[in-house]
Amino acid sequence: MSNFIWGVATSSFQIEGATHEGGRGPSIWDTFCKVPGKVANGDTGDVACDHYHRYNEDLDLMKWMGVDAYRFSVAWSRVLPNGVGAINNAGLDFYDRIVDGALERGIQPWLTMYHWDLPQALQDRGGWNNREIVGWFEEYADVLTSRLGDRVKHWMTLNEPLCSAWIGHLYGDMAPGIKDLQTALNASHHLLMSHGIASQIIRSNVKDAKVGIVINVTPAVPATDSEDDHRAATLADGFDNRWFLNPVFGQPYPADVIEALGKSPQIAAGDMTLINQPMDFLGVNFYFRQTISSNPQGSPLPIKNIRRENVKRTAMDWEVHAPAFEEILTRIHREYKPREMYITENGSAWNDMMVAGEIDDQERISYLQSHLEAMFAAEKLGAPVRGYFAWSFMDNFEWAYGYDKRFGLVYVDYNSQKRTPKKSAHFYRDLLLNRTTR
Ligand code: FCB
Repeated sequence: MSNFIWGVATSSFQIEGATHEGGRGPSIWDTFCKVPGKVANGDTGDVACDHYHRYNEDLDLMKWMGVDAYRFSVAWSRVLPNGVGAINNAGLDFYDRIVDGALERGIQPWLTMYHWDLPQALQDRGGWNNREIVGWFEEYADVLTSRLGDRVKHWMTLNEPLCSAWIGHLYGDMAPGIKDLQTALNASHHLLMSHGIASQIIRSNVKDAKVGIVINVTPAVPATDSEDDHRAATLADGFDNRWFLNPVFGQPYPADVIEALGKSPQIAAGDMTLINQPMDFLGVNFYFRQTISSNPQGSPLPIKNIRRENVKRTAMDWEVHAPAFEEILTRIHREYKPREMYITENGSAWNDMMVAGEIDDQERISYLQSHLEAMFAAEKLGAPVRGYFAWSFMDNFEWAYGYDKRFGLVYVDYNSQKRTPKKSAHFYRDLLLNRTTR
């Protein structure tokens, strides 16, 4: 299939570094990294992969790999240091260079507007809990599309709103580190409304734009055949998957979840219509499946995650189970009918070792192989999967896990900043070179 898009993905905070350069304002992740105990080893994003200075070398490597597209994100606080108001042109210039550098190399730039690094100035005004953020996001979307829309045609509004909402505001394991159900529910709603308003801005400012959102899906399977476990798995699916998929496809938030939580976001007239914008594509991120059992003491839902024994696991302790990928893709196709789907992230972390200058990451290769097979099986069954982006182009700052967890096809030595393609990078390159014979 010659027009299938093959790419690699990254995000701003995970690779850029230069957090104090070029007029960038602080983000909630700069703040979170400074809270003792929140990020492994006290790691920060200050240097990361130094991509801010080394982007040319990185784009060269992508060209060597033979990718069609590069999915990256913009750091909101590089462009608008206070989140709104004064524009930092040096920040926009940096993304101009990324976009032009990709295009010069024959690589399509795929831009994510928000991959979790909210300007701290906006957090200080309530962040995603404050309904005004929809207007702030509108302003940001307008600035980005006005400057880059002549060259960037693929736009993703949000990356994984689940992580921003639930992990950032309910579990507290990611920035801004809040643990409050009502705040999390409001955050989820304001995130999705921001997706809606940004979609409208993209369409009005960018000729021939392709607009989408990136949602991470985590299938939930019952631990046993009992009815209770089945009900628990359905609730987990509702909270993690349907909560975000339903509204962007014009359906209400799942009633079973709202009932079990005993709480709902504050929804005003017109909100659900704003969220439900026409979408050219759905971005799907997939990593693992979860196993769920009933747990009457569970909070905020009466469920708990079970750790399966005797299964293959990555360095993140995530189960490797590719058939769940095929199933969820065919299910999304069946239940939501997206026009097109792109796998905007998929990949795995392993304890990579450099031996005699090489990283022989066979486990990453077999994860890739089995997941590509599952993806194409879903496509054969009718799921309109039109592209695949490997997570990640290179090792980077893995959020609360710091630099310990390596997801890259390219190895990064954080002392020297030297990049070394792993075996998996060669595997991916060969696959792309031979693609017509797939
Ligand atoms: C996803 C994130 C991405 C990366 C991978 C491993 O949830 O979108 O930034 O951390 O997980």
